[in-house]
Amino acid sequence: MNRPRHIAIIMDGNGRWAQQRGWKRIKGHEKGAEVVRHITTYCANHPEIEVLTLYAFSTENWKRPKMEVEFLMKLLDNWLQKELPTYQKENVRFEVIGDISRFNKALQERIAYTKEMTKNNTKLTQVLALNYGGRDEIVRACRRACASGEEISEESFEKFMDSQLGDVDMLIRTGGEKRISNFLLWRIAYAELFFTDTLWPDFTPAELAELIEEFRSRHRRFGGI
Ligand code: IPE
Ligand code: IPE
Ligand code: MG
Repeated sequence: MNRPRHIAIIMDGNGRWAQQRGWKRIKGHEKGAEVVRHITTYCANHPEIEVLTLYAFSTENWKRPKMEVEFLMKLLDNWLQKELPTYQKENVRFEVIGDISRFNKALQERIAYTKEMTKNNTKLTQVLALNYGGRDEIVRACRRACASGEEISEESFEKFMDSQLGDVDMLIRTGGEKRISNFLLWRIAYAELFFTDTLWPDFTPAELAELIEEFRSRHRRFGGI
């Protein structure tokens, strides 16, 4: 039976969720952050899930209004500060992919501190994709690979990526859009894809459990018969 070792989620629909209620988009991001906690706790307590990768900010999201970008950065900083006890309690290791060199120094330090404090946790690795683009990660990995002078194979390439997470088993996108939006291009080669109309702030562990059930019944062939 299929095992959901690595689940990746494009957490989309925060803005629409807030706008439907006549609220500012940022309210949706606040609610979305709470959902991150619930989903992470569910995954940490699931015996088969080892990695949960969450798309939080793409290399294209800088195109948004300055105020929204600044709010997201502040939200992330506050979130990491507030959630550290949850990471410890749930035994979750915090990891990041993406190029965070464009973030302010204080936020970069907060990220490094959270990684350091949680590095020995073992139940789940929660990966936030921050200033992340699938193409950007591949290009940066190629630069590292060239600099190393090593012979490159499909197997060895991963070690030049931002983090060694292995292939994605389930890729889920909330919010109704059916596209990849430059997420994890290398690692989703054989991922099973799931698209739900549920907006991210309304997504629940119960819906994730249903998707995992559907995943189990799928026939993964990996090119075989
Ligand atoms: C996803 O929700 C969260 C981020 C990209 C940070 P959106 O903000 O894209 O919400 P919609 O798609 O506009 O509803
Ligand atoms: C993808 O959502 C990025 C994140 C969820 C962080 P977007 O809302 O930015 O994607 P598009 O613009 O609809 O493709
Ligand atoms: Mg969106």
